Amino acid sequence: MFTLNDLALPQNTRNTYRLNTFKVNKDLASAFASIANYCFYYPTLEKMGEDDPEREKVLIPPFITLSGPPGTGKTHLALALLWEWYYNQRPLDTLFCPVERTLSKFKSCFSVDNYKLFDQGWDCLEKADWLCLDDLGAERLTDWAITKLDSLIDARYMSDDVLSTVITTNSTLSELSERLPRIASRLSEGVVFELKGMDYRPLKGLREWGKAVPGCQQ
Ligand SMILES: Nc1ncnc2c1ncn2[C@@H]1O[C@H](COP(=O)(O)OP(=O)(O)OP(=O)(O)O)[C@@H](O)[C@H]1O
Ligand SMILES: [Mg+2]
Repeated sequence: MFTLNDLALPQNTRNTYRLNTFKVNKDLASAFASIANYCFYYPTLEKMGEDDPEREKVLIPPFITLSGPPGTGKTHLALALLWEWYYNQRPLDTLFCPVERTLSKFKSCFSVDNYKLFDQGWDCLEKADWLCLDDLGAERLTDWAITKLDSLIDARYMSDDVLSTVITTNSTLSELSERLPRIASRLSEGVVFELKGMDYRPLKGLREWGKAVPGCQQ
């Protein structure tokens, strides 16, 4: 059953999925530098008046897409950005939404006629200042899921408030445009980083478990 806690930043990433734990190499340097900049833009933006001519230079794009193969650090970077914002700003408005899991939990609200909880949760997703949609495009796309995702992205796109959405995906924007054309079109108005590095998970596994597991090759 879905609860609003399901949209909180995962506590077990609080210390691990951070900028200072991210190892940068040449494949990741450009994405990392931009993400790190967004972390520091926001406090500057808050201090500026609405008409400040410098304001445009520090605006954060409404959609920040991190695309690439598994294990390249997309979720790590997305959460690093959200944790910075969480600590610097208004915690309640920083949400993390693993797309497939969250959609199926939302759907379960229908089966128990819990429409109120559904509306409340969906409202949070539409209005959160900072939202990460993790693993967009990996989910099996029912017509219902496509309609809901379309309407979520469009609500955030059309909002009068300044909202930022960080998307991680294994698909390229052109692959997304075949399956989710309306979403891909809106994402293309923001920035897209293609992470081309190696899968970090085998390296991490070796570091964490390699010496401890008998018989494990190093
Ligand atoms: N450059 C990096 N420096 C340090 N840790 C990293 C780096 N890249 C990835 N990791 C770590 O490797 C693991 C996998 O990274 P992450 O979850 O970000 O991958 P992903 O790109 O989101 O993969 P998937 O597409 O499968 O979701 C995480 O534990 C993460 O902290
Ligand atoms: Mg991921």
